[in-house]
Amino acid sequence: SSDFTEVSEYQIPYDSKWEFPRERLKLGSRLGEGAFGLVVKGEAMGLLNNNSPTTVAVKMLKKDATDREMADLIREMETMKSIGKNKNIINLLGCCTQRGPLYVIVEFAPYGNLRDFLKSHRPENPICTSMIMEYETPIITSETSERKALTQKDLISFAFQVARGMEYLASKQCIHRDLAARNVLVAEDYVLKLADFGLTRNLSAADYYKKTTDGRLPVKWMAPEALFDRKYTSKSDVWSYGVLLWEIFTLGGNPYPSVPVEALFALLKDGHRMKQPPYASSKMHGIMQECWQEDPDKRPCFKTLVQKLDNMLTSSL
Ligand code: ADE
Repeated sequence: SSDFTEVSEYQIPYDSKWEFPRERLKLGSRLGEGAFGLVVKGEAMGLLNNNSPTTVAVKMLKKDATDREMADLIREMETMKSIGKNKNIINLLGCCTQRGPLYVIVEFAPYGNLRDFLKSHRPENPICTSMIMEYETPIITSETSERKALTQKDLISFAFQVARGMEYLASKQCIHRDLAARNVLVAEDYVLKLADFGLTRNLSAADYYKKTTDGRLPVKWMAPEALFDRKYTSKSDVWSYGVLLWEIFTLGGNPYPSVPVEALFALLKDGHRMKQPPYASSKMHGIMQECWQEDPDKRPCFKTLVQKLDNMLTSSL
């Protein structure tokens, strides 16, 4: 490519099954920003229903994106096409690939990411922080009109839904590589949806020290074999799932706060594990510990996790 061209012209194959006319897509406010991409809210006219708009999220590249970032977004879109639909993942709705910038149209989750959602549902009254809590009694007692109180059942349901989404991805041979509450979105009726599963990540040594926008280190979600040997499998996703469980039952807590990367390496090598969070039963902490087994083969698979959590939900503790 020439130094004088502002935009790289890519020929993306036309796919009639997914192409959406860009003149029927209205772009709105910014929802999020990744390393290379941008997500904005949008209205897609006649996407699901004729003559009525559907609120969507639209993934696109930033102005200064490189060819490689373009290739990554195309790959993400193709991965979403091949994985197919599931209730607990952010589904692809369409794309605009012709005569203009690439837009990847996905489901919109009105309540944002799970970490912020959990944090915003923390009780303001410290007394409520006690572990003594009934199954269907809200964690938050002072219920405002804005936020609905969370129950122990809600938290277990969140754990169950993430496991179900991951069970589906694993069945499609998809390894997430960055499973964390920040990458789970909250849709209507508290339906949780996994996001960013179509990305393929290969962290370099320098990336281990890179923080997220809220100052967290993504390495704190990584299984030791992924961190030390770059061995990513569904079982390394299960380790991350254990950390995500910990996030759920701390209502958006920060894992290993103030532990720098080198100390984390030492911590993991010493076999250190996080203790039972305030809102987790000892049974739930037991599941976390199973997910954090040193030997990946000893960790449960997502199918087993779905069954265990389903039992916890139906037996109502
Ligand atoms: N932020 C990033 N992706 C989103 C989505 N699909 N829905 C809502 N907010 C988002």
